[in-house]
Amino acid sequence: MASFNIEFLSISFIRPRHIFQLFLLSVIIITSLLLAGCSTSFSFLPQIYLLNIGYNDGTVYQPVDPTIINQQAGVQLANIALQTAFEVRVGYFALCINAVPGSWLCSQNATSLAEQLSPADDPFNVLHVAAVFHDTIMFPYLLICSAGLSFVIFVFISPSPPVMKTLTVITGYLAATMILISVLWQHVACTTAASTIVNQSNGTLFTSIGKIAVIFGWLSFGLLTLTVAGVYLYIKIERVAQGFEDIATE
Ligand SMILES: *[C@@H]1O[C@H](CO)[C@@H](O)[C@H](O)[C@H]1NC(C)=O
Repeated sequence: MASFNIEFLSISFIRPRHIFQLFLLSVIIITSLLLAGCSTSFSFLPQIYLLNIGYNDGTVYQPVDPTIINQQAGVQLANIALQTAFEVRVGYFALCINAVPGSWLCSQNATSLAEQLSPADDPFNVLHVAAVFHDTIMFPYLLICSAGLSFVIFVFISPSPPVMKTLTVITGYLAATMILISVLWQHVACTTAASTIVNQSNGTLFTSIGKIAVIFGWLSFGLLTLTVAGVYLYIKIERVAQGFEDIATE
């Protein structure tokens, strides 16, 4: 009797499901770190930001363009900004400020951060701009849903009837779509704000998009997509193998 089965997919005790679980665990950890970015000044958390807005330390990078009517705007604003080097970072749930160079102060409460500052620290009210951007545009809930769904798949991916595997694929597809929407949303919102802020400040402010946040976003999307594709392929191979077995036993 020919015994054709899917054992060739398993290397001793490591089964495909373990690899998928490793991927899902990574997705959960990466997404949690992304959501936790800027929530405390501990370790590298201030580095996981979506948008950074800061003063150019007195230097002006006045944009040059025929549509610019007041060529002196940058210099005029620099006279207000003086040597300010203040920076604000926006995360999904919190903000970090860099009032003293090299040390970050982070909080979910922008008001409590504002209480630490004087008008000379933040002459253009950049903290306010960051707080409004955070409150009105950042949307962490799709990422939270997606991390939750990843956990559900992680639990239910164990040896289970085919119907559960199909459910796994559907749930995974949903979670991956949510991450994709979040990453694109994050990207469009941050680049739009970054460009507008730099131009409106006439080159007295700089902005940057958090590279780690971008990498984390795309990485969790990639890992989740691989998992969904892997489970789908696994179901297909299993069906084909089952077909061979049926033919062999006939
Ligand atoms: C934020 O901080 C301010 C001042 O420290 C305080 O009055 C306010 O209640 C805080 N808000 C929240 C939601 O904790």
